[in-house]
Amino acid sequence: MKPLIERIRSRAAVVGVIGQGYVGLPLALVFEEAGFSVRGLDVDPRKIEALGRGESYIEHIGSERVTRAVERGRFTATTDFDVLRECDAILICVPTPLGAHREPDLSFIHKTARAIAGRLRRGQLVVLESTTYPGTTDEEVRPILEASGLGCPDDFLLAFSPEREDPGNARFSTRTIPKVVGGVNATSTEAAVALYSSAIDTVVPVSSARVAESCKLLENVYRSINIALVNELKMTFDRMGIDVWEVIEAARTKPFGYTPFYPGPGLGGHCIPLDPFYLSWKAAEHGIWTRFIELAGEINTSMPRWVVHKVMHALNDDGKSLKGSRVLVLGLSYKENIDDDRESPSYEIIELLQQLGAQVDYCDPYFPVARPGRRHDIGLRSVACTAEAFAGYDAIVVSAAHQQFKDASLYRQAGLVVDTRNIVRASPGGPARVVKA
Ligand SMILES: NC(=O)c1ccc[n+]([C@@H]2O[C@H](COP(=O)([O-])OP(=O)(O)OC[C@H]3O[C@@H](n4cnc5c(N)ncnc54)[C@H](O)[C@@H]3O)[C@@H](O)[C@H]2O)c1
Repeated sequence: MKPLIERIRSRAAVVGVIGQGYVGLPLALVFEEAGFSVRGLDVDPRKIEALGRGESYIEHIGSERVTRAVERGRFTATTDFDVLRECDAILICVPTPLGAHREPDLSFIHKTARAIAGRLRRGQLVVLESTTYPGTTDEEVRPILEASGLGCPDDFLLAFSPEREDPGNARFSTRTIPKVVGGVNATSTEAAVALYSSAIDTVVPVSSARVAESCKLLENVYRSINIALVNELKMTFDRMGIDVWEVIEAARTKPFGYTPFYPGPGLGGHCIPLDPFYLSWKAAEHGIWTRFIELAGEINTSMPRWVVHKVMHALNDDGKSLKGSRVLVLGLSYKENIDDDRESPSYEIIELLQQLGAQVDYCDPYFPVARPGRRHDIGLRSVACTAEAFAGYDAIVVSAAHQQFKDASLYRQAGLVVDTRNIVRASPGGPARVVKA
């Protein structure tokens, strides 16, 4: 282990990052910027080619950062997994989706672990970053790596360190967000702490990989449950004629013991809608029924339907039926100002509206054309983000609070806006009527 730590300290260590997506690319850049030679690996040749040209395919990660890393000669992107032999540290950032029955899909982790095992050599450190249930690093990754004939910690080291990206958040970056690190044994923790401390401002060691895995799940379950709570309160207060947004603004003036969460059209992104179910699946193995997680999932996944009901009722007030109405949905991204539409509730809202006979268009400056996803393929193109394009719809549904949609003049010819994000106000220069949903 000593030679590895010395190589880390002297920046002679080569860092390999498998998976060059929302998590892996910024992580690779942070290590390159800290002076390491970095190999970015991915199975998608289009991403690798773009990186080779110095281009970023993720809106909030500027191409300048990738260009600089490539020009300095320390960052190379490749689909050739044999470069893993050159790497002293290998960080795994591959997807962890859910299967059709909400069960964990570890196939990407398994495949990656097998690819590493075939090239594993003495002295390497392997760190799993993909979000997963407690025990994955020890029970799933370790046996695959040890099938190579090498053992941990005598031959190689193995740890888990969860990613905490918040895409689009200008206040925090990969380097400044504290990084929790836990090895499958103390030697592995020590090596992983040495590695991350050389590129990240604050590293938080914990006693095991299981604690690190659980820490990430606690953070995401906490968000899922609190969002479900405000979504439930939104529906409750709505029935009472009380505006939940005004209630939250008032509550957040309490200087202690309260953290504001906001309602919305449903959960999105690669984390909050999925990760809690990794824990509930694993908990079942231990005879535990994670009721908070299930309840939050039930409430949050019912939100698109609730929004569509609000649209239906609002049209009814205008003497119109949803069937045959023209509806414009604003935003395919799951949250504001980012080009990430994974698990976005907008798709379900669009499909539900279509099933009920509405003629649906969408507008999203981040998605000129809707891409086919794992579960949805709406086959639409974005309408222009102009007042003229917004005119003539029976209802406009705000699903993502992109900055562009906050311009009141966009709605000057609009009648009804159903707003799930509290960004549009009825006004003489704006829409005639706004219904919060
Ligand atoms: N996006 C986030 O904000 C975020 C935050 C925290 C944690 N995470 C977790 O990080 C992990 C990665 O998420 P992401 O958002 O970066 O996903 P992503 O889909 O953006 O990136 C994953 C990348 O892995 C590549 N890939 C797939 N199979 C591969 C293989 N066998 N070998 C090499 N590359 C492969 C894909 O082509 C893709 O480029 C997930 O477990 C996710 O839950 C994501």
